[in-house]
Amino acid sequence: MKVAIIGSGYVGLTTGVCLSFVGHEVTCLDVDPQRVATLRAGAAPFHEPHLGDMLRSVRLRYTTDYAEAIPSAEVIFIAVGTPSRGDGSPNLEYLEAAARSIGEHLGPAYSVVVNKSTVPIGSGNWVESIVRDAFRQKNQGQRPENFAVASNPEFLREGSAIHDSLFPDRVVIGADQQQALERLYSLYRPLLDQSFTPPRFLPRPDGFGAVPLISADLASAELIKYAANAFLALKISYINEIGQLANRVGADVQLVARGMGLDARIGTRFLQAGIGWGGSCFGKDTAALVSTAAEYQLEMPIVQAARKINSRQRELVVERLLGAMKLLKGKTVGLLGLAFKPNTDDLRDAPALDIARKLLERGARVRAHDPVALAAARSLHPDLGVTWCEAAEEVADEADALVLVTDWPDYRELDWAALATRMRHPLILDGRHFLDAARLRALGFQYLAV
Ligand SMILES: NC(=O)c1ccc[n+]([C@@H]2O[C@H](COP(=O)([O-])OP(=O)(O)OC[C@H]3O[C@@H](n4cnc5c(N)ncnc54)[C@H](O)[C@@H]3O)[C@@H](O)[C@H]2O)c1
Repeated sequence: MKVAIIGSGYVGLTTGVCLSFVGHEVTCLDVDPQRVATLRAGAAPFHEPHLGDMLRSVRLRYTTDYAEAIPSAEVIFIAVGTPSRGDGSPNLEYLEAAARSIGEHLGPAYSVVVNKSTVPIGSGNWVESIVRDAFRQKNQGQRPENFAVASNPEFLREGSAIHDSLFPDRVVIGADQQQALERLYSLYRPLLDQSFTPPRFLPRPDGFGAVPLISADLASAELIKYAANAFLALKISYINEIGQLANRVGADVQLVARGMGLDARIGTRFLQAGIGWGGSCFGKDTAALVSTAAEYQLEMPIVQAARKINSRQRELVVERLLGAMKLLKGKTVGLLGLAFKPNTDDLRDAPALDIARKLLERGARVRAHDPVALAAARSLHPDLGVTWCEAAEEVADEADALVLVTDWPDYRELDWAALATRMRHPLILDGRHFLDAARLRALGFQYLAV
């Protein structure tokens, strides 16, 4: 099937390589000429495990030109960013621009325009009207009869995006036209049936079988995405709230989480107490859910509380350091990890940047390291006032405290004894309950958790 994908970011490019891998003819389009040039040169424009291998094993076309990608496409995915505006509502300007360009270039054959971007409920109809209007303007008032808009929310996790796309828990498609649903079903068939031979670097998980398909109306498909993300976010906030109580009563939140999580109805995942969530999705999607509900005069107190707890966890890092150090002014704090989670270079809503700002505001000096996101941090935040360290050990130089912000596996393997000797005072705040507390204490560290 001929597929066009608008937006070659974490979602668009991953979708493109995976659909190409299972046999479709894919063109990836992006408005960023530099990104397209990087892709044409065979390189991955961001860090994502196995993306480079996948790019080498498929044949994709890359373009900045809608006229090249759209007219012959049978399925057109929109996978542009939908970042948060200041008031919590999503910024839909990229989505609108993409929909307009699609409408201007729609071909004569039936095509399905698919919202893969996370978009507010009702966006399917809105995108349809934009595509329709753009087509009319371009074609002297002629009505485009031959297209439908569908929703296909994405659930991949950065850091395991290729794995999640080849071996998804489920595929959700939503449309009000049966023909559109059938086209998407045909498109996803190899993934649903798992009839493809997996790449040698990413074998199919043992026992992984057919993938469930949820075929829904547009609004339900759109709401599934927000409801799922908000649920995961509130699971994290819930364990962080329990963590605060555990701290007061002298309980071990990790044991509590394990004891809870082994209940099959609860599950152990997303019950890791710590600094809380970050990244491009949970913050903006929970904000968008609250904002959409408000349009319908509805409050979402559970989701709002999850958001509040998450902000508080970042504040707590500073409070814990203050409690231990009494003064931050003139002190040096080293941050281990900048990316919002391991195995990605994504810095959107990264707790590390927030924590750095809070520490700098209180007069501390901040040194920071990340195994893959350092270059991005340096170029995106040149004026932050942080000293960027090429080697993890360097964050310890003359430091009065270290904060483990991102649980990169490499950090566990650091020579912690050597780190202690480089510091002015060996204090570590483990923001992810990730390090071996007993070992660090034995090495002379004062060990704190959030
Ligand atoms: N990143 C994730 O983990 C994830 C997971 C699930 C869903 N989503 C959702 O998917 C969407 C995309 O997220 P992302 O992380 O891939 O974003 P991204 O910022 O990595 O990529 C978006 C790309 O779209 C391009 N773009 C912007 N306007 C364009 C236009 N008019 N025409 C063509 N290209 C255009 C940008 O240049 C950029 O390369 C968002 O709505 C997000 O909420 C993201």
